[in-house]
Amino acid sequence: MQGEQADEITGQSTMVNTEKFITQAIAEIKTAAGNDKVVMALSGGVDSSVCAALAARAIGDRLISIYIDTGLMRKGETDRIKTIFSGIRLQIVDAGDEFLAALKGITDPEAKRKAIGERFIRVFEREAKKQGARCLLQGTIYPDRIESEGGIKSHHNVGGMPLHMEFSRVIEPIRDLYKDEVREVAGALDLPKEIQHRMPFPGPGLAVRVLGEVTREKVAVIREANWIVEDELVEEYRPWQCFAALLGLGTGVKGDNRIHGWIVAIRAVNSRDGMTADPLEIPFERLTRIGSRITADIPSVARVVYDITAKPPATIEYE
Ligand code: XMP
Repeated sequence: MQGEQADEITGQSTMVNTEKFITQAIAEIKTAAGNDKVVMALSGGVDSSVCAALAARAIGDRLISIYIDTGLMRKGETDRIKTIFSGIRLQIVDAGDEFLAALKGITDPEAKRKAIGERFIRVFEREAKKQGARCLLQGTIYPDRIESEGGIKSHHNVGGMPLHMEFSRVIEPIRDLYKDEVREVAGALDLPKEIQHRMPFPGPGLAVRVLGEVTREKVAVIREANWIVEDELVEEYRPWQCFAALLGLGTGVKGDNRIHGWIVAIRAVNSRDGMTADPLEIPFERLTRIGSRITADIPSVARVVYDITAKPPATIEYE
C-alpha cells in the first residue's frame, strides 16, 4: 500500500493504512467525478470489483458499470456477475459472436490480443456513449503499468489502447497498489470472499489459453477443462492462478479407436505479483484425478499434461 514502507517506521497496522486508502480513494473519485456520470468496465475480477465498490460509495448511481461478455469468459461467469453485483447499476452486454468473428483466422498471439482489445474498446465505447458519461474509471494496478510501460505485452485493459471517445477525465483509484493490497482493500470493503480471493484472469480471457486460432469449439473445450482444474485446486491449494490451456492435437485411444484429440495443459502457480511465478507442488494422485476427469468429461481431449515451468523462463499464460 502506498504507506507500506511507512508501516515499519510508524508501526501503523496495515488495516489502518487500508482504511486510510479507502477514505482517500473515495474522496479522489468524488472530486474527479464532480457532477458527471462515470462509466467503467467491470470484469468481476478483484481489481474492477474494488473500483466499482469504491465508486459506488463515492457517487452511487452516477456510476454505470458495464460488463462485456466476450464469449471468452469462464464457465458461469456472467450469471455470477449478475448475482454479485445486483445492488449496483450494471449493464450486461452479450458480445460473444462479435469477438469470435474478430478472432477468425488470427494465430499470432499479439495479433489476437490486439483484435480482442480493439473489439473490447469498440463495444465499450458504443455502450458508454449511450450513457452520456464524461468520466472513465479504470482498475489499473501497479504491475499493469510497469508491464505496459515496459512494452512486455499489450494489456487489453481499456487503458492499454487509445479510446476514440473523449472523456474529460480518467480515474484510476488503485493505480499504486499491488494485487495483494487490492485484496486487502476488497476485504475491508466487505466484498464477497469469493471476489477477494479470486485468481487473476487475463483481459483477453480464454483466448490466451488456446494456442493458435480461437474457435467456438476450442473455447468450449478449454472452458470445461478450466472449470475442472479450478474445481480441483482453488479451495484446497489456493494457488495464485490455476487453469487449463489447449495446446493442440495429438493421438490418443478412446474406446476401441485411435483418435486425434486435444492436448490440455494444467497450469498452477504461486506468485506475489505475477511478474515471477513458481509451479505449484500438487500430489500426483490429484493431478491424475484431474487428468481423468478432463478426459472423461470432454470426449475430444486425448491427453493432459502438467506444466512444471517457472516464470521466467515461461510466462504464466500460454500466449
Ligand atoms: P504472464 O502470462 O505475462 O501473466 O506471465 C502475468 C499475469 O498477467 C495476466 N495477464 C493478463 N492480464 N491482460 C490482462 O489483463 C492480458 O493481456 C494479460 N496477459 C496475462 C496473467 O493472467 C497473469 O496473472
